[in-house]
Amino acid sequence: MTAPLLKASGIAKHYGAVRALSDVDFEIRPGELVGLVGDNGAGKSTFVKALAGAVQPTSGTFELDGKPIRLASPQDAREAGIETVYQDLGLCDNLTVAENIYLGREPTRGWGPWRRVDRRRMGAEVREVLGTLSINMPDPGAQVTALSGGQRQAVALSRCKLWQRRLVLLDEPTAALGVQESARVVETIRELSAAGAAIVLISHDIPMVLALTDRIVVLRKGSKAADVPTADVGEHDVVALITGAKREAA
Ligand SMILES: Nc1ncnc2c1ncn2[C@@H]1O[C@H](COP(=O)(O)OP(=O)(O)OP(=O)(O)O)[C@@H](O)[C@H]1O
Ligand SMILES: [Mg+2]
Repeated sequence: MTAPLLKASGIAKHYGAVRALSDVDFEIRPGELVGLVGDNGAGKSTFVKALAGAVQPTSGTFELDGKPIRLASPQDAREAGIETVYQDLGLCDNLTVAENIYLGREPTRGWGPWRRVDRRRMGAEVREVLGTLSINMPDPGAQVTALSGGQRQAVALSRCKLWQRRLVLLDEPTAALGVQESARVVETIRELSAAGAAIVLISHDIPMVLALTDRIVVLRKGSKAADVPTADVGEHDVVALITGAKREAA
């Protein structure tokens, strides 16, 4: 077996008296597609935000390529090759579509004091990557405040496509989308995976999770309730693991 790309050990997150996560261990290998499922409030988004550097765990540690890593900010996570599509659509409202995709990684041209952001190249790259998602989108220079939920999701997903990330975290990437757009997103997830990215997919759409993933991790009330190869379970088993009607066989 290949070594884990990322390993999380004993992750806990408390919000006052609320234990959003308790002692969660998790690992993912390069190219692996892992489904993260659980009821509302089970801790899925909190866990992904911890991996994305957006939430600081109360306790626990992360390792990347076998070395300890601190994910103190989203910037740290991005530098480590981790990209996230947030459920609450974490775009910067004061930036344009293109700026949201680049987030400080804008291509430049010229040299020394003549160095400038290459807006033409940015626009072309953004149009190309958005085109592959076939989502009808205003100009790359448009402010994202004017976008629909689905369009915002497409912008966030484009960020993952353009940057060839090592670990992609998708929190309900199809939640705001119609049937056709969802199918496109599924295709994009397959492409990202085929390109070698490790992917964590959070979704309440169990058939989709079963169709796409290699392994399924179930969170229940902030704890890991199961970690099973997708090939070993059906929809009924997954639902039972989510609700607690069934415990994972030891
Ligand atoms: N910023 C916060 N402050 C206080 N409590 C929080 C905060 N964020 C999450 N929680 C609580 O932590 C728990 C886990 O929430 P989380 O958003 O991780 O669930 P989830 O599994 O993503 O649920 P859903 O499927 O509804 O998106 C919930 O009880 C939630 O109310
Ligand atoms: Mg959530």
